[in-house]
Amino acid sequence: MNIKLRFMLAGVAFMAALGFTYASLPIAAAGDKVGAAVKKIGVLIKKGDNAGASKDASAAAKNIEELADLMHMFRPRSKGGLGVGEKPLPNKAKDGIEVMLRDLARDVPSNIGKQAEALEITGYWIAAMADLTHAKAPKKNLGKKTIKAWNDYTTDMRVAGLAFAKAAAGKGGQEIKTAAAKVNASCNNCHSIFKE
Ligand code: HEC
Repeated sequence: MNIKLRFMLAGVAFMAALGFTYASLPIAAAGDKVGAAVKKIGVLIKKGDNAGASKDASAAAKNIEELADLMHMFRPRSKGGLGVGEKPLPNKAKDGIEVMLRDLARDVPSNIGKQAEALEITGYWIAAMADLTHAKAPKKNLGKKTIKAWNDYTTDMRVAGLAFAKAAAGKGGQEIKTAAAKVNASCNNCHSIFKE
């Protein structure tokens, strides 16, 4: 557990002792801050301002202590993740980027066009996550865990995220399926080397 989290938990215990009912508030607020950074960078990428996005990502990454706090954004919205698009989905279990990618890589429902806007923005969030992850690259090589490998994987994730946004905007089922599979592969490739 990182120091910040331990600090927050101490704060939670303190507030609980005082009888506060919103004990989970500090933790949710920390995740919200990361989420807000992702969304802001996503807007810049959508506008084509890649230099601005990269600069913003470097600055925001400094306030994200652990990579896990960033990766947590891929979890369902109900678990503190970003969710799919701005509007919460009725099915909470499916309202997460990781689960959405896995499902779409397998099968795209015929009415996918209805979700086009939410999926498109999610694609830009994935690209933004890539910029932030890039900014959290390891400082030195460690066996197969090289700085170059890290940067290659974050580049793959960014390219795949953008392709996913374009496929979603185009509403083509097969294109969305292929793009989701590519994003998924970029996640898995990095995890197979860097995630214990
Ligand atoms: C450049 C490398 C890299 C890429 C690309 C990457 N990840 Fe990760 N991810 C990691 C590492 C390393 C961890 C382990 C972090 C830790 O626990 O310290 C992780 C952890 C996670 C976790 C667990 C977070 C938690 O709540 O503890 C999830 C979920 C996750 N990644 C999803 C994804 C998804 C989805 C993608 C692709 C869209 C992706 N990751 C792309 C490196 C990467």
